[in-house]
Amino acid sequence: MRSRKRYGNKILIIFILVLFIVGCAIYYYFILGNKIRVIFNDKLETEINSSVLIGSFVKEIKNGELLNGDELIDTSRLCKKKVKLLVKGNNNKEENISFNINIVDTIKPVIDAKEEISTYVGSSVDLLKDVMVSDNSLEKINVMVIGEYDINKDGEYKLKYVASDSSNNKEEVDFVLKVISDANNRVFTTSKGFSGKVVDGVTYIDGVLIANKTYSLPSDYGNGLTNDTQKAFNLMQADAKALGLNIWLSSGYRSYWTQYAIYNNYVARDGQEAADTYSARAGHSEHQTGLAFDLNTIDDSFAYTTEGKWVAENCYKYGLILRYPKWKDNITGYKYESWHLRYVGIELASKLYNNGDWITLEEYFGIDSKY
Ligand code: DAL
Ligand code: ZN
Repeated sequence: MRSRKRYGNKILIIFILVLFIVGCAIYYYFILGNKIRVIFNDKLETEINSSVLIGSFVKEIKNGELLNGDELIDTSRLCKKKVKLLVKGNNNKEENISFNINIVDTIKPVIDAKEEISTYVGSSVDLLKDVMVSDNSLEKINVMVIGEYDINKDGEYKLKYVASDSSNNKEEVDFVLKVISDANNRVFTTSKGFSGKVVDGVTYIDGVLIANKTYSLPSDYGNGLTNDTQKAFNLMQADAKALGLNIWLSSGYRSYWTQYAIYNNYVARDGQEAADTYSARAGHSEHQTGLAFDLNTIDDSFAYTTEGKWVAENCYKYGLILRYPKWKDNITGYKYESWHLRYVGIELASKLYNNGDWITLEEYFGIDSKY
């Protein structure tokens, strides 16, 4: 009796178990088995500004299909981005499934720069000027020069450009800065704070070509009066003529070798010390610049002629200056020359005219004129 009862219990348990398994199978088959399941790729990450389709993150879809897999994801910002999949199940029902991707920047900026930069001692070189940096992100890339150099000392300096983006991806590129010592190509600052530069042996201060006892010209420099100088003379001559005055060019451009002959003649005649007070050594004459000329009779008497007086009071209006004014021998290095004019442009000429109390180029720029 008792064992029959136990036997009955066993059957009941087995029956319940079978019922449970069959229930599970039905549930799995009809409910879970039809549920859409998305299997994503292992890495849900993409580069900023990359062109990436929604579907590229999906490995497989069970019990359905992806409808918007061909849509591009906006990857223009570094962030964690929510992306929505539109899927259609086997039962034709559509639903949205969201997932997150990380938009990251792991790509280094690219530096395009010269391997070697040459410059002269004392120059103000901008090492970043020609450096091009590109990056996958459109953010501003920080570029720096790493390493030490002394622009006032010649040498070859090994430096590096380092570019980094905001995700701290860094790129480094080596380059060499050659600082060359060359008297014919250098920069300097005058005692009055003007910046001077010597370009292939020709000195410019604040853009104005300077030739005097201190600053010389290469022997092959110059070929006639410059257009501006000739025009200034022509205009001045025409205005003078309208007033009944007669001015003419008695000496314009002189080559290095012409000046060489002239100066040596004076030295032979008066001795070097005297010659140096009124004639420039070859390579030091303003006549070689093509910016200077002598008017009429090259003689002190010119200053007392109507022409000489009118020129002294009016030449600045044409951009011309009296280059060697009275009482400035020690500054210009030369005696007063009422006939020698120099073209500097109207703006500077007007300043130097100074109501007739001429300021010399040497005083204005703060430079010497000494051999
Ligand atoms: N007479 C001027 C100084 C020259 O020789 O250029
Ligand atoms: Zn002259």
